[in-house]
Amino acid sequence: MLTSIKTNELQFESQKIGMMYFRVAIILFGAQLLMGLIAATQFLFPSFLFELFDFSVARMVHLNALIVWMLYAMIGSVYYMIPFETGREVVGAAIAKLAFWVLTAAVTVVVLVYIFIQVGPGTEQTLWLIQEGREYIEAPRWADIGIVVVVLIFYFNVFSTYLKGERTGIMTVMVANLFALAGLYLTGMGYTDNISMDQYWWWWIIHLWVEATWEVFVGTLAAFALIRMIGAKREIVEMWLWIEVLMLFGSGILGLGHHYFWIGTPEYWWEIGALFSALEPVPLVAMFVHVLYDWGKEQGIAKAKGQTASIVNNTPAMTWIVANAFGNFLGAGIWGFFHTLPQVNIYTHGTQFTSAHGHLAFFGAYATILIGMMYLAVQSAYGIKIMKSTSLSKWAAFMIMFGVMGMGIALTISGYEQVLVERAELGATWNAFFTAQNLTWMVQGLAWRLVMGVVTFIGFVFLVLDLLSIGKNAQVRERAGV
Ligand code: HEM
Ligand code: HEM
Ligand SMILES: [Fe+2]
Repeated sequence: MLTSIKTNELQFESQKIGMMYFRVAIILFGAQLLMGLIAATQFLFPSFLFELFDFSVARMVHLNALIVWMLYAMIGSVYYMIPFETGREVVGAAIAKLAFWVLTAAVTVVVLVYIFIQVGPGTEQTLWLIQEGREYIEAPRWADIGIVVVVLIFYFNVFSTYLKGERTGIMTVMVANLFALAGLYLTGMGYTDNISMDQYWWWWIIHLWVEATWEVFVGTLAAFALIRMIGAKREIVEMWLWIEVLMLFGSGILGLGHHYFWIGTPEYWWEIGALFSALEPVPLVAMFVHVLYDWGKEQGIAKAKGQTASIVNNTPAMTWIVANAFGNFLGAGIWGFFHTLPQVNIYTHGTQFTSAHGHLAFFGAYATILIGMMYLAVQSAYGIKIMKSTSLSKWAAFMIMFGVMGMGIALTISGYEQVLVERAELGATWNAFFTAQNLTWMVQGLAWRLVMGVVTFIGFVFLVLDLLSIGKNAQVRERAGV
C-alpha cells in the first residue's frame, strides 16, 4: 500500500486521497495495539513504566487511536468509493488534501500532548489545550473545533459530488447517514459540571455512533464491497440495505436506553432500553444472512453458466468482509445481548465483561470491514483483476482474529468471576472489588489477554507486510500471465 504512493494506477484524485487516509489509519491502528499491550502489562505488573507512562494515558491513547484510525479508514473508504458510485471525480480534491494534512497535523499534536502532559489540574485551560476527559473522544476543544471544520470540508465534498453525479441508493444512504454521524459529534462538545448530564450527552455520541450511524455506514460499505468483489446485483443489495437501515435505526436509536439504567436518568429508561436494545441483534443477523446469501446466489448463478472457479475477485477482502458479517453479529449482537437487560446489567455493569464486549464488538463490526476496504483499495491501486490471498494474508487474518477472540474469551472469564464474586456474593463493596481482582480466575484471564494481545500484534505486523507487498506481487504475476 505504501509503495503505491508514487506508482499507483488510481485514475481519480478522490481515490488517491482515500489511500492517504488508509495509510494513516494503519499507522494509528499499530499505535492503538502498542498502547493496549502497555496497558495490559500494567494490569499484571503495576510497576511497569511506573512514573514514566501512566496506565490512564496508555488506556486513553489506546481508545482515542482506536476511534481515530477507524474514522480515518471510514473517510478513506468514502473517498475510495465516490468515483465508483457517482461516476465522477470528487468536487474539491485540492481542499480535501489540505484538510487531510491539517487533520493529521492536529492528531499528531493532540497525541504528543497526551503523552507528554500526563497529569495536571482539571481547569478550563486543560479543557481547551490538553484534553476533555470524555472516554474515547478526549481531544481538547481547540482540536474539536478543528475537527468540525475538517468534517465540514469533507461533507461538502461528498455531498456536492453526490449532487452532481449519479445518485445510487448506496450513495444516498451514505450522504444521509454521514450527516447524522457528523452532527452527533457536536453533542459531545458542550461542558457541564453535572456528571449525569455529561454522561447523558456523551452516550449520544458513543452509542449513537457505534449502534446506529456507524452500523449503517458498515451496511453501505458491505453493499458496495459485495458489488465490487462478487458482482452482486445492485437492486438486490440495495433492497437489503434499505431494510437493514430501517431495522438498525429502529432498534439502535432508542437502544440508547441501555446506558441510562444507572446514571441518574428517569426509570422509564429501564423498559425502553431493555426492549429496543434487545432488538438490536436482529439487523445484525440480517446483515450476516445478506452477505452469505449474495455470495451463495452469485456463485450458484456462475455455476449454472458452467463457470467452475470462485467468483470472488479479491479473496483477502472477502475474508475480512465475511469476518465482519459474523463478527458484528457475535461481538455486538451476542456479547451485547448478554448484558443488555437491566436485570443482568445491574451485576455486569462496568466489569471485565463490558471490556470483552467492547473488544469483540469494535473489532468484529468495524476493524474487519475497514481492513477489507484497504485490500479493495490496494487492488485498485495496482489495477489487478483478481487478487488472491497470500500466505501472509492468511496468517494475518488468522492471528488477528484468533488473538482478538482469545482476548475476548479471557476477559469474559475474568468478567464472570468479577460478577459472581465481587457483585453477587460480596455485594459490590470496595473490599469486594479488591478481593475479586486478586483471585486466580481474574489474574489468569488478564494474563491470557496479554498473551492473546501479543498474538494479535504479530498478526498485525503480517497484515502490514501483506498490504505493502500483495499488490505489487499480484500485478507482476498478472502481467506475466501466470
Ligand atoms: C458494533 C456495535 C457495538 C460496539 C462497537 C459496542 C461497544 C461497546 C463498548 C466499547 C462499551 C463500553 C463503553 C464504556 O466504556 O463504558 C459498550 C457497552 C455496552 N454495550 Fe455495546 N457495542 C456495540 C453494540 C451493542 C449491542 C448491539 C448491544 C445490545 C444488544 C450492546 C450492549 C451494550 C451494553 C448494555 C453496554 C453497557 C455495559 C455496562 O453497563 O458496563 N452493545 N459497548
Ligand atoms: C494488542 C491487543 C490489545 C490489547 C493488549 C488491549 C488491551 C486493552 C486494555 C488493557 C484495555 C483497558 C481495559 C480496562 O480498563 O479494563 C483496553 C480497552 C479497550 N480496548 Fe483494547 N487491547 C487490544 C486490542 C484492541 C482492539 C483490536 C480493539 C478493537 C478493535 C480494542 C478495543 C478496546 C476497547 C473498546 C476498550 C475499552 C473497553 C471498556 O472500557 O469497556 N482493543 N484494551
Ligand atoms: Fe450501546
